[in-house]
Amino acid sequence: MIIREYYSCDAAGQAHWREAIAKSDWNAGQKLHELLSTDTLRTKEWIGADARLYLLTEDDQLCAFCTLAANDDVPDTDLTPWIGFVYTFPAWRGQHLSGTLLAHAIEQARTDGHTAVYISTGHSGLYEKYGAAFLEHNKDLWGGNTRVYRLDFGWMQADGNERESGLPCREKAERILEVSHLLNPGPWREHSYCVARAAERIANACGDIDPEQAYLCGLLHDIGRRFGKGHLRHAYDGWQFMEHLGFPGIARICLTHSFKTQTLDDYIGNHDLTGKEEGALKEALAACHYDDLDLLIQLCDSICGTQVMNIEERMLDVKRRYGGYYPQDKWNANLEILRTFEARAGGDIYQIAGNGA
Ligand SMILES: [Fe+2]
Repeated sequence: MIIREYYSCDAAGQAHWREAIAKSDWNAGQKLHELLSTDTLRTKEWIGADARLYLLTEDDQLCAFCTLAANDDVPDTDLTPWIGFVYTFPAWRGQHLSGTLLAHAIEQARTDGHTAVYISTGHSGLYEKYGAAFLEHNKDLWGGNTRVYRLDFGWMQADGNERESGLPCREKAERILEVSHLLNPGPWREHSYCVARAAERIANACGDIDPEQAYLCGLLHDIGRRFGKGHLRHAYDGWQFMEHLGFPGIARICLTHSFKTQTLDDYIGNHDLTGKEEGALKEALAACHYDDLDLLIQLCDSICGTQVMNIEERMLDVKRRYGGYYPQDKWNANLEILRTFEARAGGDIYQIAGNGA
């Protein structure tokens, strides 16, 4: 799936997506279609000149959409920016696509310098699921009642101490994982805790790796999953997200954890990045010199599902899930890392990693 921005598409693309929006079974979707057709959405009477309309697409199909704009349907307010027109087509519901769009819009708002976004809705109990908090009752453009929600994200940014270390404090790291999991729920939250605890314990046993650093890197290695279901994309998104927040120590782990042999060639899964993104990932990866933390998180990722498990069982599971493909070099590299850490930690790695679980 690809997220496109309507106003960045060419005229033919805009016409195609506009007609797709017309097929939504929602009044506001019909209104959006009308505003796009008359080119009046990006006006101060509606949602403002800098409005962006995000389209979550698969090939030429439109799966879901939302706007990020200075205004929404609440007049005379200083609150800004707003996420609005959030809609998923019936065939695509139940896959948390709204969360994927919200994560994307939030990231854009953060890049624009905001610390929160606002949402106007008639729903009660919906946006709470994505981590938004009810702010106030208000009136919409037509005089009807609306509920205004605020979704804060300014707190995620690295503070002075964190900028110095390149790592978040534990409390913030856990909070980032929790709110990210709300946007894309799945077993990756439990997996992340499993990797974090295993990494902390093995670091302790080794004696010369910082256990706290190991925990934090393990906890956030898959944070790119915040942005939805992705393969190669989850490494790229996590890397970029952590860099932008001011946590290069974690960004590096997001980048390196999937590449045992330090190349994209043996990646198991889809190459779901644009050419430019994949080029940037390749270049950054090639510039790394793997250190203890890179290798430790690779190891823990290989022995953790949602619980510590046998490395060969985990590799077989991955192999099964990806149509029987698992490069031998990568398989061997995993076993080699396990043997190295077993020697350093001075004991059975599964016992050390799972101790206390
Ligand atoms: Fe992982």
